[in-house]
Amino acid sequence: MKTLALFNLKGGVGKTVSAVNLAALASASGLKTLLWDLDPQGSAAWYLGVDTDEIGGMKRLARGKTTIGELIRQTGVSRLDLVAGGLSSLHLEAAQADHASLLARLTEPLSEEYHLLIYDCPAGLQAINEAVLGQADAVAMPMIPTSLSVHTYEVFLRYLSKRRLSGLKLYPFLTQVDRRRRLHRDLVEALPAQIQTLLEATVPYASVVEQMGPRRLPLPLFAPKTTAGQAYAALWSELADALSHRRPG
Ligand SMILES: Nc1ncnc2c1ncn2[C@@H]1O[C@H](COP(=O)(O)OP(=O)(O)O)[C@@H](O)[C@H]1O
Ligand SMILES: [Mg+2]
Repeated sequence: MKTLALFNLKGGVGKTVSAVNLAALASASGLKTLLWDLDPQGSAAWYLGVDTDEIGGMKRLARGKTTIGELIRQTGVSRLDLVAGGLSSLHLEAAQADHASLLARLTEPLSEEYHLLIYDCPAGLQAINEAVLGQADAVAMPMIPTSLSVHTYEVFLRYLSKRRLSGLKLYPFLTQVDRRRRLHRDLVEALPAQIQTLLEATVPYASVVEQMGPRRLPLPLFAPKTTAGQAYAALWSELADALSHRRPG
């Protein structure tokens, strides 16, 4: 089983919509996929039409009183399952284990069942995100093309080197790109030279992405041929290559 995390220090950049769309594309490609919605807001679950009230159970999971299998729900998308719930530091303390080994223990049984585990991370650097970053085979980082995003990326790189995580396979990609805006166009041009592992696919700012909300469906299921739909397909193809180590980096 491979693990892919959608991460950024910032909120509102497109981690959740990307996690949901990539999970739908992965499962459509034949991979049995589990999406773990780690954000207590439960947005990924919501986009997939799964009611999170019905799931919960993270406290019992952390304490070993239930198994992750009990908390997994099917989604309307074939081969795509979901587990929802953040693991706060309180849960982690209750487990009386360090975060990395707790996450390793919780996810260990999944490898029999799934080819791919995708984490939709909350923003910031809480303990659970640190554990995810330590475990993930690849980390995809949506970035809006602004100078502040570039700064945040650099702050994150410094954090990685402090935590001896510089070997992390980090793949930033541009999203919410509005080509009518000069700054966006400039950064789309300049960033590939600055960020070596920047993925080529760029996701445009598009109202069809927002329609995932009212439709409660991943974009590839209702608008695969739109520019945004094709951008997500290109993004998945690059990440699938990165996960199978067919690419350098
Ligand atoms: N490419 C895009 N075009 C238009 N709106 C987008 C795009 N990507 C994300 N959004 C919108 O931005 C908001 C934040 O996206 P979300 O995936 O929840 O971010 P995060 O998980 O990083 O907080 C959502 O309302 C979503 O619909
Ligand atoms: Mg989110």
